[in-house]
Amino acid sequence: WPAIAPFVAAINRLKAQKNAVILAHNYMTPDIFRLVGDFRGDSLQLAREASKVDADIIVQAGVHFMAETSKILAPEKTVLIPDTRAGCSLASSITGADVRLIKEKYPDYPVVTYVNTTADVKAECDITCTSSNAAQVVEAIAKEWNTDTVIMVPDQYLAKNVAAQTDIRIMTWPGACEVHEMFSADDVNQLREAHPGVVILAHPECPPDVLEAADYAGSTAALANYVSEKSPNKVVLLTECSMSDNVAAENPGVNFIRPCNLCPHMKRITLENIYDCLVNGEYEVTIPEDVRIRAKKALDAMMALPK
Ligand code: 13P
Ligand code: SF4
Repeated sequence: WPAIAPFVAAINRLKAQKNAVILAHNYMTPDIFRLVGDFRGDSLQLAREASKVDADIIVQAGVHFMAETSKILAPEKTVLIPDTRAGCSLASSITGADVRLIKEKYPDYPVVTYVNTTADVKAECDITCTSSNAAQVVEAIAKEWNTDTVIMVPDQYLAKNVAAQTDIRIMTWPGACEVHEMFSADDVNQLREAHPGVVILAHPECPPDVLEAADYAGSTAALANYVSEKSPNKVVLLTECSMSDNVAAENPGVNFIRPCNLCPHMKRITLENIYDCLVNGEYEVTIPEDVRIRAKKALDAMMALPK
């Protein structure tokens, strides 16, 4: 506490002086998430907040694609990210040129992109999705295009997990989240043996056999809600490590068993660099206007779907 208290006080003072807000993803460490984050949540919740928040500056306490999403939706605001190296293995697995080639080859199929992609990729796609609405998006776009086949990039596991929930045929791309692909069905079985009665929750970026073996799957916000609503005795969150810390702080009666993997990109964001970011106004996220407008179309198509 003594080490972080001055940073927290200074960050909160700077936010008020500069009319800035901090959008904090569920994978931020608790000092950021609980003490300086103004809005907290999963990718979809943060995107919705960016589109309506009343502030001059948005500081994205998350990874680069999330900051780009905020800029796409709130171009009049200054969007800052405390460390430009906060990337994502999914976002770096595909380019806009890749999507153009896919579209040339399969002009009759709509392309859904997970939000974990660059603005360049979103600009080439028909609609975005997040882990909380992927099945809904796939079904809506298939209906709109009157097709039984949809292309979903870049997360092969999310695509396979959505395919298990719908009759729509889904073609995909060989991208994966470097954090969630590390979990295996064996991990789930071993956890059940070691902790009888444990409830196992998994993020849909995990491989399909992990989801089959788990009790429930959902976005980071859905996993947090599940724990708050059901208050299981013992729980495992098969996702990034800070999730358990943040959800545990809200649910003191629940016993969290913690095999988890760290996202090295999310962990680039610290209280110290959030402070520097507010002092120096760095690093500003910018997107060429023609790309932003096309990427916004794909995001708007998602955001227009019923909640
Ligand atoms: P959520 O949208 O579920 O928060 O997921 C974002 C992410 O990067 C998970 O790895
Ligand atoms: Fe990307 Fe995975 Fe990190 Fe999420 S956890 S930001 S999907 S690498």
